[in-house]
Amino acid sequence: PPPPLMDRFGRQITYLRISVTDRCDFRCVYCMAEEMQFLPRQQLLTLEETAWIARAFVSLGVNKIRITGGEPLVRRGVMSLFETLGTLDGLQDLTLTTNGSQLARHAWDLRAAGVTRVNISLDSLKADRFRRITRTGDLARVLAGIEAAMDAGFDRIKLNSVILKGRNEDEILDLVNYARIRDLDISFIEEMPLGLIGDHDRAEVYYSSDEVRADIEARHALIPTTEQTGGPSRYYRLDGTSIRVGFISPHSHNFCDSCNRVRLTAEGRLLLCLGQEHAVDLRRVIRSHPGDLQALTTAIRQGMQIKPRGHEFQLNAQPVIFRHMNRTGG
Ligand code: GTP
Ligand code: 5AD
Ligand code: SF4
Repeated sequence: PPPPLMDRFGRQITYLRISVTDRCDFRCVYCMAEEMQFLPRQQLLTLEETAWIARAFVSLGVNKIRITGGEPLVRRGVMSLFETLGTLDGLQDLTLTTNGSQLARHAWDLRAAGVTRVNISLDSLKADRFRRITRTGDLARVLAGIEAAMDAGFDRIKLNSVILKGRNEDEILDLVNYARIRDLDISFIEEMPLGLIGDHDRAEVYYSSDEVRADIEARHALIPTTEQTGGPSRYYRLDGTSIRVGFISPHSHNFCDSCNRVRLTAEGRLLLCLGQEHAVDLRRVIRSHPGDLQALTTAIRQGMQIKPRGHEFQLNAQPVIFRHMNRTGG
């Protein structure tokens, strides 16, 4: 087999996140501005091109792929991509991050295509508040999507909650209980400063992972665990249960030293770090060298040489990354 994908800091890249669209049926306040310009369709990779790039990464030792957006399930024909990726030898984990709005319809097909795990965003259990955070989302549909995913029998389902002070920090225990009763994992996420969102001042709504953890520990013991899923979450086990509670803390606990991932945007840019602009235009490479696996793998390897050490998010400054999260792939 070819040598593994290594960057300049000795980190091996085994995890590829693929954004299949920047579009979404929600407009979450921490992700998007109220008015967004979406990419014209002809700028996107075709799903065949996306699968071709994915295959090249797997040949270079990537064993986990996560499909993200925007909302991946709004991309037309996306199920065919899952079906293709589900057959790739060498891929151990095929995973999806979704807002859950279309899951009731797609959960079984995703499972049948070989999706192993699903992460679903859930920031509130109150319908009116859920609507204010997502601007267009319908809580009942998302909850139905979660139930459908549970029925479909994925190996693991994880909920993602971005906690913002003054919006949902009073629901942390309710969210933990929702997860506990259903035997789902849950991660609490500190908001990251990507793009101008125009809703709130990011420093003002900052609620640290340590505060979230203290709120949970007022009621439940959290047992540190070394189990990892290959993501940035630090996991604890909720005492007396089999669920994991994770904390994704870009501000308070940097996790870049153990970074194992890169991102492919819907336009075919290989982003070497979520919080930096270093990138390689893989769409240009595959369109100027159609069918040439060597040219593609060479470009991917060159990309590893410009992967930065990590993000440099600052709470009290204007965002330096103008690309919104929906163009980044989370
Ligand atoms: P698993 O560990 O595989 O369950 O997934 P994950 O938690 O890495 O992925 P998910 O798509 O659920 O993303 C959860 C949050 O983690 C999102 O807010 C992502 O933006 C964030 N995240 C994932 N990878 C990185 C990363 O490399 N850097 C930063 N700053 N955030 C990340
Ligand atoms: N900061 C942190 N997490 C974010 N997400 C979207 N925007 C942001 C942000 N600015 C989360 C979503 C979803 C995951 C892919 O990323 O809630 O769970
Ligand atoms: Fe859509 Fe996810 Fe962004 Fe919310 S966070 S607007 S669900 S892409």
